[in-house]
Amino acid sequence: SPEARLFVHADAEQLADALTLEWVRRVQAAASLNAPFRVALPGGSTPRRLLERLALPQYAKEIDWSGVHVFFGDERCVPPGHADSNYHMVHEALLRHVPIPTGNVHCMRGEDDPYGEAARYTEELRRTFGIAASQVPRFDWILLGVGTDGHTASLFPGQNETLACRDWCTVAHHPDSGQPRITLTLPVLNHAACVSFLVTGLDKADALAAVKNDPERRQRFPAACVEAEQVEWWVDEAAASRL
Ligand code: 6PG
Repeated sequence: SPEARLFVHADAEQLADALTLEWVRRVQAAASLNAPFRVALPGGSTPRRLLERLALPQYAKEIDWSGVHVFFGDERCVPPGHADSNYHMVHEALLRHVPIPTGNVHCMRGEDDPYGEAARYTEELRRTFGIAASQVPRFDWILLGVGTDGHTASLFPGQNETLACRDWCTVAHHPDSGQPRITLTLPVLNHAACVSFLVTGLDKADALAAVKNDPERRQRFPAACVEAEQVEWWVDEAAASRL
């Protein structure tokens, strides 16, 4: 894949401003081709700023939500209204404020049967992307965060079964809490047209430096295993301070 692109912004607010304009540009480009825009969102605090901006009235005329399909990179196996739910964060920050068709929001509901949900979500991907089970869904854009341990989505260091999984989504377990999570897998992340990592804060500086520049340690960081057609790093100066 071509060299990863690095976008450094002064702070998380300015990063979110720039990413908002990038979202508008990409959605408008897809709409101009009458093409659906299929994007997978991460959980965590970093993307919330972007989502809250996209919900602002000033973007209402800029974004035609009818062609946007929102998916999730991973989800905790909790009810959708639970504080830990990635869907809950995205719904509160964005979805409840914009006219996105209900059928365009594809959430993972693993609270009752994580393994059954991984299979169901795989079928929802196949149906929504209109592809055969032998093909891999190709997202237009996958936004991902990175943990201080180099995890991304719910692909955690050392969980080699999850990292080697060839299914489109699978069940992972948080290394500390053991909490089950549904996550997209590397075959899907690597097949995306573009993956953008959103990384802010000094606490991420070491992980970012290792994932981007430290070949010896890279293989221990799942975020370093993502090799899509275009990989972008959207970071603030604090996270980039050790690059
Ligand atoms: C999740 C996310 C996870 C997140 C990282 C970074 O479900 O928590 O998918 O992979 O992106 O933990 O989170 P922050 O952006 O909040 O630091």
